[in-house]
Amino acid sequence: MSETKPSQLSPTREAGVLQAFHADKAPPAPSRLLQLTDLHLFAEPTGRLLGITTRSSFQAVMALALSGGQAAHALILTGDLVHDESPAGYRYLRQALDETGLPYYCIAGNHDRRDLMKKYLGSAAVDPLGIRRLNSWNLIFLDSLDPGRNSGHLGREQLDRLIDLLSDNKAPTLLFLHHHPMPIQSAWMDTMGAENGADLLGICERNPQVKAVVFGHIHQAFSDFRGGCRILGTPSTCIQFLPGSIDFAADNRSPGYRELTIYPDGRLATHVERLAGLHELPLAHAKGY
Ligand SMILES: [Fe+2]
Repeated sequence: MSETKPSQLSPTREAGVLQAFHADKAPPAPSRLLQLTDLHLFAEPTGRLLGITTRSSFQAVMALALSGGQAAHALILTGDLVHDESPAGYRYLRQALDETGLPYYCIAGNHDRRDLMKKYLGSAAVDPLGIRRLNSWNLIFLDSLDPGRNSGHLGREQLDRLIDLLSDNKAPTLLFLHHHPMPIQSAWMDTMGAENGADLLGICERNPQVKAVVFGHIHQAFSDFRGGCRILGTPSTCIQFLPGSIDFAADNRSPGYRELTIYPDGRLATHVERLAGLHELPLAHAKGY
């Protein structure tokens, strides 16, 4: 998808899309969700990933996300929360999230430790499949972490439970996971998506109440459709990866997050916001992370 060039004056907006299902009715009050992903925090506040100080970058993105005039209703963090598997990293994150005063939900990425997430994030750490109701919608969280591997996997039990949930409940639904469930045309990154993402997308196609599958992991914005279901990738709050690259390549786009506005009548609006400028440049000759 195309992106506008980051402005030095204001945050950028990418791919605002509204799916109208009941255009003849006045829109009821929506809920606003903020997805932040791939924080890659360290125990040390000065910890860097490929030249980016991940804690200050996360703080800047969070401040941007919370700075709008509209109230947010929940934060959703889709994995790679702490890069160095440190208790101090998760403790810091818990404190930062609590300070927002908002409900928050966290799923694991390939760089996370489930045991530390449970210990420091408590019931906000959702696995292997969690469901929360918000504004007549179902928010479903799938843990795709396959320990020891960069790629992800969804277990048969997870998928069977998802099928049961979707057959029993036709409320509009958003699905969240860490790994991308379909190729994003970036060869190195496509070796480490959700291995059985096609199974997940098949389930979504057979259940049109699933309005979007939303993920992190790819450190870039992504948007596609599978039937009527949106497939949405979101920039990291720190280092960005170059879209369409065959091999690993960092990108000079600035960090960001995704907003998802859900309406009680089933409409969804979403876009990505990025910081106005880069405070740090990624390392020029990095070969991987
Ligand atoms: Fe990541």
